[in-house]
Amino acid sequence: MEKDKNFWFGKRVLITGGDGFVASHLIKSLINKGAVVVATVLYKKPISTLEIIRGKRHQIDTIFHLSASSIVSDAANSPFSAIENNVMGTVNILEIARINKIPRVLITSSDKSYGDHATDSLENIPYKENYALRGLDVYSASKACADVLAQTYSYQFKVPIIVARSCNIFGPGDLNFPRKMF
Ligand SMILES: NC(=O)c1ccc[n+]([C@@H]2O[C@H](COP(=O)([O-])OP(=O)(O)OC[C@H]3O[C@@H](n4cnc5c(N)ncnc54)[C@H](O)[C@@H]3O)[C@@H](O)[C@H]2O)c1
Repeated sequence: MEKDKNFWFGKRVLITGGDGFVASHLIKSLINKGAVVVATVLYKKPISTLEIIRGKRHQIDTIFHLSASSIVSDAANSPFSAIENNVMGTVNILEIARINKIPRVLITSSDKSYGDHATDSLENIPYKENYALRGLDVYSASKACADVLAQTYSYQFKVPIIVARSCNIFGPGDLNFPRKMF
């Protein structure tokens, strides 16, 4: 996505889940590169994502969709809300991107979308991009669903989407202590 070192200068970026661990580092990095960043956060919501996108004020050209119910154990304790947040939250962003013809969209999936291929004789680890997605727990299933829907919007509606399936990220400011166990 980054073609040159000035690529992000002046870009107008929406980041969902702006107070999260990864998003906060991303926001800092993008601002340092001269991007104009607008972020949504869960608990202080003066305006909706749709208003941000459609409003003439922001003219978003890039979306990083990072918001999620991101803790495996929390998702297992509240399957309905985790699935709704992770799947329909992503559909919301995909629809906004489709309707408003947003030129760049990144959807965060997870390596957990692959499930556990360690004991699979045909598809074993390390993961390959064309491996089947599996949901072996509620969080992973919700990310796999969002991942597939992002592919659908890319294929059917030609929304320019990148899906990132990263493994566990670590660094300063990660307050999600239960995740350290996985
Ligand atoms: N950190 C990792 O190791 C890792 C690995 C793979 C994928 N991911 C994915 O990357 C993304 C970011 O992960 P993270 O580690 O920063 O998680 P995080 O929990 O620190 O950040 C997610 C943020 O989203 C916010 N949020 C949840 N629902 C929201 C909503 N409806 N509207 C607005 N904000 C909402 C939460 O309050 C939280 O601040 C997530 O989608 C996660 O599933 C993370």
